[in-house]
Amino acid sequence: MRKGAFIVFEGIDGSGKSSCMDEVASALLRERIKVIKTSEPTKGEIGAILRTSGNRTPEAEALLFTADRAVHTCEIVKWVESGKTVLCDRYYASTIAYQSASLNGRSADADWLTAINDEVIIEPDMTLLFDIDPELSMGRVESRGRRSRFERPEYLREVRNNYLRIAKLRNFKVIDASRPKEEVLEDVLRRVREITG
Ligand code: TYD
Repeated sequence: MRKGAFIVFEGIDGSGKSSCMDEVASALLRERIKVIKTSEPTKGEIGAILRTSGNRTPEAEALLFTADRAVHTCEIVKWVESGKTVLCDRYYASTIAYQSASLNGRSADADWLTAINDEVIIEPDMTLLFDIDPELSMGRVESRGRRSRFERPEYLREVRNNYLRIAKLRNFKVIDASRPKEEVLEDVLRRVREITG
């Protein structure tokens, strides 16, 4: 059986990656491509811990996100090997970008984050980075009426810069997410089809 593909959607909160991923999934399903939508933090047991607000350091948080990913990666490998196209909302770049940004005045080391993640990941066939100015994305998040502890503009500026640095190193496709949503979708679909055919 032909192997599937693994495509990751990354970006700061409010960048539009999740709704774009839903639209891409629908478009591929219409073309009879077998799609699995998944996300991190996962709905599994470690993902559930991550959704609670505990007294954690950035390092502890990084280890939890990475542990969640280690389990998730096993599932992703199985899906891809059974011919599915896996669309994943966030993967290892989220940990490197977010946990190495200073949260509450502390940050985890980017080299360490990269090293622990490299042990548990598979390199996606494509990672799309939805790049947007946090001022703009924050407006979107606020209009949805929710704001997590990760959603402070000065923090997100650092996260954005980290993302752009990783994107260069790992060859991500940087998508200008400040454009109208239809334009972004068209751009993303064109790139996804380079892989799904
Ligand atoms: P998010 O994708 O916003 O999930 P939901 O839409 O269900 O709230 O992820 C939740 C937050 O977790 C988001 O602000 C980014 C953060 N996060 C990290 O800090 N590191 C990680 O490795 C991951 C996967 C997410």
